Formats: sequence, C-alpha cells, structure tokens
Amino acid sequence: MKRQLHLNLFIHSRGHHEASWRHRGSSPLPLTDIRYYQDLAQRAETALFDSLFLADQLALGGDVSQAPRTWLEPITVLAAVAAATSRVGLIATASTTYTEPFNLARQFGSIDHISNGRAAWNIVTSWLATAAENYGGTGQVSHADRYARGEDFMEVVKALWDSWATDAVVDDRTDGIYARTDRIRAINHRGDFYHVAGPLNLPRCPQGRPVLVQAGSSDTGRRFAARHADAVFTAHMAKATAQEFYADLKRLAAAEGRLPEHVLILPGLSPMIAATEAEAQRLAREVNDLTDPEVGRKRLSGRFGGHDFSHLPLDRPLVPEDFPDPGLVQAARSRTEVIINLVRRDKPTLRQLLGYLAGARGHYVTAGTPDQIADFIEDWFQDGAADGFNIMPPLLPAQLDVFRARSDPDPPAAEVVPD
Ligand SMILES: Cc1cc2nc3c(=O)[nH]c(=O)nc-3n(C[C@H](O)[C@H](O)[C@H](O)COP(=O)(O)O)c2cc1C
Repeated sequence: MKRQLHLNLFIHSRGHHEASWRHRGSSPLPLTDIRYYQDLAQRAETALFDSLFLADQLALGGDVSQAPRTWLEPITVLAAVAAATSRVGLIATASTTYTEPFNLARQFGSIDHISNGRAAWNIVTSWLATAAENYGGTGQVSHADRYARGEDFMEVVKALWDSWATDAVVDDRTDGIYARTDRIRAINHRGDFYHVAGPLNLPRCPQGRPVLVQAGSSDTGRRFAARHADAVFTAHMAKATAQEFYADLKRLAAAEGRLPEHVLILPGLSPMIAATEAEAQRLAREVNDLTDPEVGRKRLSGRFGGHDFSHLPLDRPLVPEDFPDPGLVQAARSRTEVIINLVRRDKPTLRQLLGYLAGARGHYVTAGTPDQIADFIEDWFQDGAADGFNIMPPLLPAQLDVFRARSDPDPPAAEVVPD
C-alpha cells in the first residue's frame, strides 16, 4: 500500500522561535484573540495540513517578562476553531495528572461532536514542576507515578467513550423515547487511582473516541505511546536518533498487538524557508538576533526541573557534567537527554546551546529553499525516520504560508487587523 505523508501544524505563540513574538513579520494580533487561531487554522486547512495542534502547560513560565507565556486554554480554543473550519484535524493537549477522566471524556467528546469528528487529544502527564503547585501543592508527582496514573486514566476514558452505543439515541418524538437505556451502560471502574461509575452523560461521539496523540520518549513513555497512541510527536536533532526512535516505537506497537502502520511517528521540524538558501539563513539570523540568553537560561532551568544554571559562563564550551543526571530529572527526561547528547557531540558554549534551543526548544531546526526542505522531508520519510512531520513554523503566519501552493486561494480569513 502506498504510504501517505502526514503534516501537522504545531501552533505556538507567534511562531516557534523564542523571539518570534518580537519580529515585525509575525502576526500583529494579541495572543488572546481567537481570530488569530481561527485564521491560522483556515490557512492550515487551505494548505492541506492533516491537523493542527495546541500544546499546554499548567503554570505560568518564569520568563513571562521577556516571553509570551500566556495562552488560551486549548480545548476551549478547539471549540472556536472547529466552528471556523470544516476539514482540518484538531489536537489539544490535556493532562492525565491534573484533571479527572470524567471531565476529559466529556470535553473531548463534546469537541468531537462540535467538529463533526475532528477531535484529537495530546495525552500528557505534565512534566512541569511548578504545575504541581497549582493543583493541591503536594509537590511534583514522580515520573513513574504520573505514568501509572495515566494508565488508569486511559482505561476510564476509553470505557466512558464506549459507554454509549451508536444507536442509543432514538429521539422519537411520536413515542416519547429519547434514548434506549439498554444501549447505555455503566462502567463501574475501580482502579488504583480512579473509581468511576459512568456512563458518560453525552451520546457517543462521531469518531467513537477522539484520535489519541502522545509524545512520551522515555522507556515508560514509549510503552505508553505504543499502547494508546494513533500518532506520536517526538523531538530529534539528528536523523540517526529519529530512526532509532521510529524503529523502537514500531517494534513496541507490534509487541502490543497493534499494526505498526497504525502508529504514526511525527518528529518536530522547524524550517525557515525562503526563495534562496542565503535569504533563509539571513532571516534565521535576524530572528536569532532578537533573543536574550537570560530568557533561554531560565527556560533551560525549567527543562531540568528547576536546576540552577546561573553560575555557568555564556562563552565556555559545555561538558555533560554541567548538567544534572537525566535519570534523576522528574520533568521531561527524554528532552534533557537530547540536550546532553548535543553537548557531548558538538561541545557548544552555553550561548550557542541557548541559540539552538531558541529555535524550537530541542526540535530539528533548519533553513533553506522549498526544494531543500522538501528533500529533507522526503529523506526522513523514505529512510525509516518519520511518517510525516510536526511542522513548527519559526514565524506565524509567514512561515506557515510557505506551505501553501501559489495557486491556493486566500482562506476566507477571519479579520486579522488588531482592534
Ligand atoms: C511535540 C511535543 C509536544 C509536547 N507537548 C507537551 C505539552 O503540551 N504539555 C506537556 O506537559 N508536555 C508536552 N510534551 C512532553 C511530552 O508529553 C513528554 O513528557 C516528553 O516528551 C518527555 O517524555 P517522557 O515523559 O516519556 O520522559 C510534548 C512533547 C513533544 C515532543
């Protein structure tokens, strides 16, 4: 069977580059204006993206004075974006650690109804240490406990989405029968973390359940993805590690009794694209020049669970010993390994490392012509590294529009002039 390449648009701030929000080429709309998201979604739909994706974190970032660290709640955004589009898939992030499965099953079930079957959930366990302080204040839940709770959570939501049969709603006005109770069943779940009676208080959604997306990269995270995910996001700075991840996840999916081709693997790619390579690189430098290394230093500290990097000079080559042992990091462990591997391989200074991470936080960053980027995409797709890409435009909307064919009409855009 012919394989199909999948492209997802990852919407983040005014672009994925840390300084995009300051760049004159990025959107003038406030990041709290729903027209910004509706407009991007319509552009993505016109450019034939499979889906769009909104990430989420459950605490305000410490660098808000120099970086836009506020965003609208993603499931709420999906509802508004669903009403402004008709084909593009809609992926929002929600945490298994800090919400109840009954809430989540209702929310994504509702989005699936509102969008006529386009809802998808990016399942996260929330690695950010400060999030714990907003939910009960008992401190960071360990990596192992987060995934154990996540497994129980998945059992509950899947059972809730299955608690209504497709034909449960009769809506018979003549005989006065709205629903057949023999087609709706309780779930009576009693797990280690959740006791949930069910059934859901919402008829079965068009897809049966939302598409499930996941981005675990640790051993536990990969097994979780192999069991549950239809699509997997992942971050790589080199093709070799992407190939290793791809092969491992397909193997794990097969071990779970699933068809490997049913688990799509989408590495992140942040390309700066222009008519010539020199122009693409000039644009990349122009955005990089707007970064502040101290913002990057704070963000790096967050990645390593709050580790203090304030003593490290900016211009001495780094060594792995400058970082805490990834095995002891309770946050996003795999990304810390990506960073330390880069340090081991390239020996960058802190300034250089922060410059690279400013591009897309540890995902693959590149600059080139449309042909060069298309060749890159094709190479990873053909060579066992990807089933498609999680496209992370460094500047929005300009670096999304480069994916539209010249002949594409302008989308019936929401008004994009700021108030
Ligand atoms: C593209 C991508 C998007 C992610 N989005 C989020 C997010 O929105 N919120 C979050 O808490 N974690 C997010 N993560 C982190 C993952 O859920 C996961 O915690 C991380 O990749 C580390 O894997 P591990 O938890 O198995 O160590 C994302 C990861 C990737 C690669």
